[in-house]
Amino acid sequence: MDKITIIGAGNVGAHAAVSAATLELGHIILLDKDADLAKGKALDITQSMAVSHSDIMVSGTGNYEDTADSDIVVITAGVPRKPGMSRDDLLDINADILESIVSQVVKYSPECILIVVTNPITTMVQLAYKVSGFSKERVIGMAGILDGARFKHFIAQELNVGASEVMTMVIGDHGALMVPLKDHCQVNGQPIAELLSHQKIENIVSRVQHGGSEIVNLLKTGSAYFAPGLAVIKMVKSILRNEKKTLPCAVYLEGEYSTKGLFVGVPVVLGRQGVEKIVDIHLSEKEAIAFKSSVEHIRERTEGLLEKRAK
Ligand code: LAC
Repeated sequence: MDKITIIGAGNVGAHAAVSAATLELGHIILLDKDADLAKGKALDITQSMAVSHSDIMVSGTGNYEDTADSDIVVITAGVPRKPGMSRDDLLDINADILESIVSQVVKYSPECILIVVTNPITTMVQLAYKVSGFSKERVIGMAGILDGARFKHFIAQELNVGASEVMTMVIGDHGALMVPLKDHCQVNGQPIAELLSHQKIENIVSRVQHGGSEIVNLLKTGSAYFAPGLAVIKMVKSILRNEKKTLPCAVYLEGEYSTKGLFVGVPVVLGRQGVEKIVDIHLSEKEAIAFKSSVEHIRERTEGLLEKRAK
């Protein structure tokens, strides 16, 4: 049976654990620096599995030894945003948290695939890559699936169709400069430009780009967790079950999309080896311009952080 470790028993970590358990993806370890919190949530989730006659176990712990030989480790730990904060405001504090976690993870699970959910994701995943020393195929950031789901939901709502009828792709950063590919968005094969006015599309794109803040402002005490928790498990499932799904994830680019030496969200094929292929989609001129600004923003933030931490 596969072993999945989820670090951070906050809302995103707990929902990821519930989603992985519901899908019966493996034995799940939920780790938190507050061991009792992890143990309490693990017990509750395992008992919910017993309600549905599932044998899946979730074990809570505060001890990294219990994570040994995990196939996949998902890092959700970190401080979430409060109203008025951007994901970039979390940089230094979450970098400290992430660095100490990754060293422990690597010590006990040197062969695992690492998925980073901690914000700002594209920068945190690059830090994890550096600290882990893992090959680029085994270090992946979650972002585009969540943003793509928000895009789907808003289009579906506007057109009064099911979200599953809508095909979306969101690339670049996970923040205000993310790039929802509106020229690639289709509803049952029909481009959205044939279904919605230019203004309506622009409004939806902006709502997607600020979709996380919309929820932060409503919740007031933290950020979204149902969709982020499930989004990361979609990645875990594609890897463990070798589904080879094409999903937008933050991965290390070495020339693809004219970008070198940086983690950026692009569509990739996820299978048992981790990132098995980077899918090169042809961007429209406008999409390419937006992608370039997004990459510049990530580069500035990521290189700034890495330089500061190298001192
Ligand atoms: C969001 C946070 C999780 O987009 O980044 O909701």
